[in-house]
Amino acid sequence: MTPWSPESWRSKPILQQPNYPSADAVNRVESILAQRPPLVFAGEVRALRQQFEAVTEGRAFLLQGGDCAESFAEFHADNIRDTFKVMLQMAVVLTFAGSCPVVKVGRLAGQFAKPRSADMESQDGQELPSYRGDIVNDIEFTEAARVPDPDRLLQAYHQAAATQNLLRAFAQGGFADLSKVHQWNLDFVEKSPLGEKYQNLADQIDQALAFMAACGIEAGNTPQIHETSLYTSHEALLLNYEQALTRRDSLSGDWYDCSAHMLWIGDRTRQPDGAHVEFLRGVHNPVGVKVGPTMDPDELIQLIDILNPENAPGRLNLISRMGAEQVTEKLAPLVRRVKAEGRQVLWSCDPMHGNTIKAHNGFKTRAVDSILAEMKGFFDVHRAEGTYAGGVHFEMTGQNVTECIGGAYRITEERLGDRYHTHCDPRLNADQALELAFLIADTLKSARRS
Ligand code: PEP
Ligand code: CO
Repeated sequence: MTPWSPESWRSKPILQQPNYPSADAVNRVESILAQRPPLVFAGEVRALRQQFEAVTEGRAFLLQGGDCAESFAEFHADNIRDTFKVMLQMAVVLTFAGSCPVVKVGRLAGQFAKPRSADMESQDGQELPSYRGDIVNDIEFTEAARVPDPDRLLQAYHQAAATQNLLRAFAQGGFADLSKVHQWNLDFVEKSPLGEKYQNLADQIDQALAFMAACGIEAGNTPQIHETSLYTSHEALLLNYEQALTRRDSLSGDWYDCSAHMLWIGDRTRQPDGAHVEFLRGVHNPVGVKVGPTMDPDELIQLIDILNPENAPGRLNLISRMGAEQVTEKLAPLVRRVKAEGRQVLWSCDPMHGNTIKAHNGFKTRAVDSILAEMKGFFDVHRAEGTYAGGVHFEMTGQNVTECIGGAYRITEERLGDRYHTHCDPRLNADQALELAFLIADTLKSARRS
């Protein structure tokens, strides 16, 4: 293999990149970004790798979730807080009802760039370049809005920094204290059937905390009760942005992509000889790879060997996204082969991206039932193969949106227009996310018992 450097990806074929009008303007932004402080510290990234190692070995469960695409317009403390609340709620459900430690990773503080299935988009006979996320161009359907603008890389960086800062404050400043478990409920969830189920669980946690306090274990002497960690992640799509934030750690001498704790490669950019794989093989972050239905077992082993040549548990997360109908048929041979070859990987399930459909009224949506069916298929495959189903990867929001159909409020296709706000793919709302967390907790509990 040729030597790696932060820019070695530049000599490889690359897909899904914006067509900027001026290369000089891009260069200027890259050199500004390269001077900016990193968003995460290598020591935190190593801590996440250790957590991923625990998941890979079946000692914990990975919960990864957040926006499909963060946007400049919805950059607001309330939105960040509400997504954080839902993550905390899901994690507490999984930890308590599933009796399993949970590693929390947000699709947050940098999840801006979107791969698209088509370069161009047509509306009423007009054709314009596709929207590629706020870090590239504007969603408005006009010629000017769709021109890629490199200054957006800087705006995304600053938004990611502010988001990361607030998340750290929430995680460590007392907001995540287990005594606040009742207060994480969002107003609209409180009134739903799930709200009651959650309050019951929160009551039980209160009792457990009171018992522990009586035994001398409380927030004052046990930081795990008072604070938590929410790590950040995004798809490493724009490699010039990732390169500019890649730094050599002064303690270990290793390279880290300091734009987030974890980065993943999308299903459309995972070619073994492509630029995205080249870039991520050289940084020491935990790395994810989306594994869709076109993945072939030989190619998967090849990718694993490029991205994790030392076969270190905790380095590589394979994120299966097959779709409910194909999950058993497509995933089983891959899991079997990886196990037979002794490769250490963390398998998680993204039940969103293989289940996107178009509603009769034109909305892009996903059915909670298909999401559930894919997750069930994922757990079944792992049970049958004797491997560990290590985590889930969701697109969700703390906002009361109507983007996915089904769930406790029985959102129908007709109601999708009520509060359909996503900039890209349909997300679970807090209610739907919580419902899924309870179902996964049941599955986890029975899987751990057997
Ligand atoms: C995503 O996670 O937003 C995404 C585009 O996924 P995939 O690469 O699996 O299609
Ligand atoms: Co998406």
